[in-house]
Amino acid sequence: MIGKIQSVRGMNDLLPGQIEVWHAVERAIRSVAVEYGYREIRLPLLEKTELFKRSIGEVTDIVEKEMYTFLDQRGNSLSLRPEATASCVRAGLQHGLFHNAQVRLWYMGPMFRYERPQKGRYRQFHQFGIEAFGWTGPDIDAEIIALGVKLWKMLGIGQGVTLQVNSLGDVESRARYRGNLVTYFERFKNDLDRDSRRRLDMNPLRILDSRNPAMQDLIQNAPTMIEYLDDASRKHFDLFCEYLSLLNISFEIDHRLVRGLDYYTNTVFEWKSEHLGAQNAFCAGGRYDGLAELLGGRSVPGAGFALGVERLVELVNIGKMQPEGHPTQVYVCVLGSSAAKLGFKAAESLRHLGICATLNCGGGKLASQLRKAHKLKAAVSIIIGDQEAGTNTAVVKDMNAKRAQTIVAIDDIGAAVTDLLNPKWTDFQIYLWCGHVKWLQSRNESISWSSYGRSIAGP
Ligand code: HAM
Repeated sequence: MIGKIQSVRGMNDLLPGQIEVWHAVERAIRSVAVEYGYREIRLPLLEKTELFKRSIGEVTDIVEKEMYTFLDQRGNSLSLRPEATASCVRAGLQHGLFHNAQVRLWYMGPMFRYERPQKGRYRQFHQFGIEAFGWTGPDIDAEIIALGVKLWKMLGIGQGVTLQVNSLGDVESRARYRGNLVTYFERFKNDLDRDSRRRLDMNPLRILDSRNPAMQDLIQNAPTMIEYLDDASRKHFDLFCEYLSLLNISFEIDHRLVRGLDYYTNTVFEWKSEHLGAQNAFCAGGRYDGLAELLGGRSVPGAGFALGVERLVELVNIGKMQPEGHPTQVYVCVLGSSAAKLGFKAAESLRHLGICATLNCGGGKLASQLRKAHKLKAAVSIIIGDQEAGTNTAVVKDMNAKRAQTIVAIDDIGAAVTDLLNPKWTDFQIYLWCGHVKWLQSRNESISWSSYGRSIAGP
């Protein structure tokens, strides 16, 4: 027997039963993005490797160790995107989106990083990101945070969540800080691990990002960026914090927060949750005013965040948010071959009225078909046996047994089901129904529910 093929390590299937929470989360994400004026952008999964080297930085974990990079048939180096901010800026420059314009963009989709998989950390994971281009002030930085808060509220995951913020200053103040950091770490060169020793020359800020426990004391005592901020960056940061307080958003200033990507300037932030274990950062971002220039464009200020959808879903699951129930509203039971054909048509006509109908396929006794209807939590069952098929009728059964079952003409099952699913009619619906009846009478047509349509039949 040949062996079964398994999925790639760190890349997960999303199965029915899990996907419902994803749908609810994605719906909330879409609605909050629209509410704050963001427009969707869809970006390729593959980009030229150079894009990530220039933006994220050559001496970062992501670019050095974590990218899925390969040569295509012509020898071009391509990489699966490890994040999408760089792609967003690349696309904006390529298509002139930033030309005399301020734009808010959002995206959602898979990202790829060759990290050691563990709970909350995957090699294919999903991000929802927002990026705001063309604003220099700290108000937009704070608005980005506020959007997050709104989303956590919508999803009921605000408890146990903390926001950490810091400023990395502008390019010059960071260069000053970098010099002092190098002087500090050089004093302890023998205590640095191999990675940090290499980074001391290339990118000393990255040493602060080290997760090696042996390095933590040294990192804690290192000079902090805040001492080296220039006046404008200091003002930006103070005003950003003031905006957050204005919105009653709690935050902690964390002077060690440097982020794992090189493109940031000024504001950086990270949302963490105490419920997530080791991988506790579920959303992170900041300002990147120099990125467009790094990618060969003119200067375009930008700020944004990306959240890990897997981690957000985990928080929603912990909060026991009820995923939406199975969509089946009506289960169509059929007994015998002519009933099967009539049921097939009836289920389709219900779907055209916007009702979610599941047809019993593959036969079975009535009792077993009704058991399936119960399992799917159908509110109504339609039963068609040979006798009903002979008279073009169907039995309509309220699965909650609140109303007696009825026999209706096959053309009228839409109305009968609608009546059971939405027992209350609004005045507006009655008004529309009367209009519809009058219109049918004026055309000498028989009054039929099936022609009535979902636009009127459901509230
Ligand atoms: P990042 O911190 O690298 O930032 O990733 C953002 C979020 O993606 C993390 O907080 C985490 O929730 C999730 N994430 C990252 N790696 C993994 C993984 N291996 N498995 C599961 N989830 C993961 C960025 O990507 C920036 N582009 C954010 C940004 C947007 N900055 C400005 N605009």
